[in-house]
Amino acid sequence: MDTKVISSGVKHSNLPESYIRPESERPRLSEVSECEDVPIIDLGCEKRGEIVQEIGEACRTFGFFQVINHGVGVEAVREMTEVAHGFFKLPVEEKLKLYSEDPSKTTRLSTSFNVRKETVHNWRDYLRLHCYPLDKYVPEWPSSPPSFKESVKKYCEEVRELGLRIQEYIGESLGLEKDYIKNVLGEQGQHMAVNYYPPCPQPELTYGLPGHTDPNALTILLQDLHVAGLQVLKDGKWLAVNPHPNAFVINIGDQLQALSNGLYKSVWHRAVVNVDKPRLSVASFLCPNVEALISPAKPLTEDGSEAVYRGYTYAEYYNKFWSRNLDQEHCLELFKNKRS
Ligand code: OGA
Ligand code: NI
Repeated sequence: MDTKVISSGVKHSNLPESYIRPESERPRLSEVSECEDVPIIDLGCEKRGEIVQEIGEACRTFGFFQVINHGVGVEAVREMTEVAHGFFKLPVEEKLKLYSEDPSKTTRLSTSFNVRKETVHNWRDYLRLHCYPLDKYVPEWPSSPPSFKESVKKYCEEVRELGLRIQEYIGESLGLEKDYIKNVLGEQGQHMAVNYYPPCPQPELTYGLPGHTDPNALTILLQDLHVAGLQVLKDGKWLAVNPHPNAFVINIGDQLQALSNGLYKSVWHRAVVNVDKPRLSVASFLCPNVEALISPAKPLTEDGSEAVYRGYTYAEYYNKFWSRNLDQEHCLELFKNKRS
């Protein structure tokens, strides 16, 4: 049976042709070194000013960082991981009931990135869930494993609180009012991608996810503690971000790059796969309200700095993003003001 998804429980002995990247696009895994100095920010620190300063520094120089003592309970994280593994272990027929290639569906299992648009596939299956408001979406979530809804719901609530708190720090670090970002983004949406990367027979020839930036405002990533795979582009080089116990990886999405007038970068990142172990990651995305009007923050252009981006609604951006393929020009480039 040609099962659409790759998490079918059957070990793949060779990489199908449709996953093989042309020579020039391959990950060149032997050239990737470990990122030694990923900022790890302790959110349990009592001095707010210090947190803000560290976050500002990390955003300006790296575009991503990790947080510890972040307030999301170990139990919530453990249960999230457990039900995510449980979901991907379900019989393939059961999982396929949720399969869809339509990005506008609010609960769906899919594979690769955007099957309808891409030419080469990626070695990933993912469960994509809309998570806010919870009452609206929880009923359509999977009901297997039995504790799925309850565990994911709890995780989503805690992660949302963390994300909103980080947005305050980011705003302050830009010299904006603490609530500036929250006010501009409006009632924010929240989405989740539970990514599952099965063992891959030829990891040098393909990706779990090719290099991309996240189209939303802020991403909170929970990485598998035992299997590395996340890499970020820094100074033109791909670096591996190895998992840190009890930490989340935070990265700025395209919308905060626009809002910061390009001061903070939505960092390029990718996921690579490996031969022997499946890898799981849970990405939570905070997204502006679809009606939110995104533009460089006024206080950042008052000194005469040009606004790098034009104003647009998030709906406009999101539609543009999903109508394309990850390999194309950066989506945000299409929203730049013409230089006078
Ligand atoms: C994503 C993503 C990275 C990972 O889902 O947008 O970048 O490590 N995931 O799975
Ligand atoms: Ni991403």
